[in-house]
Amino acid sequence: MDMKKKGAFIAFEGIDGSGKSTQIQMLSEKLRELGISFYATMEPTDSPVGSMIHQIMTGRMQADHRVIAALFVADRLDHLLNEVNGVKHQIENGVSVIMDRYCFSSYAYQSIQVPMDWLIQANALSSGILKPDLNIFLDADPDTALERIAKNRFQKELFEEKSWLVKVRGRYFEAFDKLKDSEHVIVIDADRSAGQVAEDVWKAVRGYFV
Ligand code: ADP
Ligand code: TYD
Repeated sequence: MDMKKKGAFIAFEGIDGSGKSTQIQMLSEKLRELGISFYATMEPTDSPVGSMIHQIMTGRMQADHRVIAALFVADRLDHLLNEVNGVKHQIENGVSVIMDRYCFSSYAYQSIQVPMDWLIQANALSSGILKPDLNIFLDADPDTALERIAKNRFQKELFEEKSWLVKVRGRYFEAFDKLKDSEHVIVIDADRSAGQVAEDVWKAVRGYFV
């Protein structure tokens, strides 16, 4: 019998500019210092499907919202199942995985145009294969998030309008409520300094790593 311990699976969620990449970087440094092996990765991925999504988001390609929703589903399945660096394989081999966005991003963002129940159904294949031990929602105020983005980026992507971010934040909470019996979610106030947020992130995840 294979007694190998599975890796932990932590997903970071939040509106654009909430500080996900910053927190993942800080957590990665901490884990490296402690000598803990892990794999940090993000969605959309840089696979062929992920590249199509990036092209659509930057306006270089057109697609209906239902097509975009389906592409995110396909990108996610490939992220899990890909034979080269698939996350499922890594977790089964004891590597912990930290993911920048997972299923809740689909529920929150795509539900503006596509019914949430369809999205939950369509993503059931993924969440059936791998469900995060913990979803960390970095809760940033849309104004704060937009200020951060404006300071640091030139290119404005499709998803970064304020009214959009307000809606997306609302949809996140709707999805958390809908799935409260089957998903483990923790909400962290992300309107504070990166260091303060990182302390709370560490408190939430340390039990999975040490
Ligand atoms: P996301 O990955 O969620 O889009 P980022 O981590 O890229 O967010 O953060 C967006 C911008 O805001 C970055 O330039 C980052 O340096 C800055 N930033 C991140 N967290 C904080 C924070 N707690 N306070 C101030 N600025 C932050
Ligand atoms: P990205 O450039 O990674 O932005 P961020 O640093 O804010 O995460 O682009 C990700 C965008 O894709 C972001 O606006 C959210 C969106 N997205 C969805 O709409 N649905 C999804 O399922 C995922 C994973 C991302």
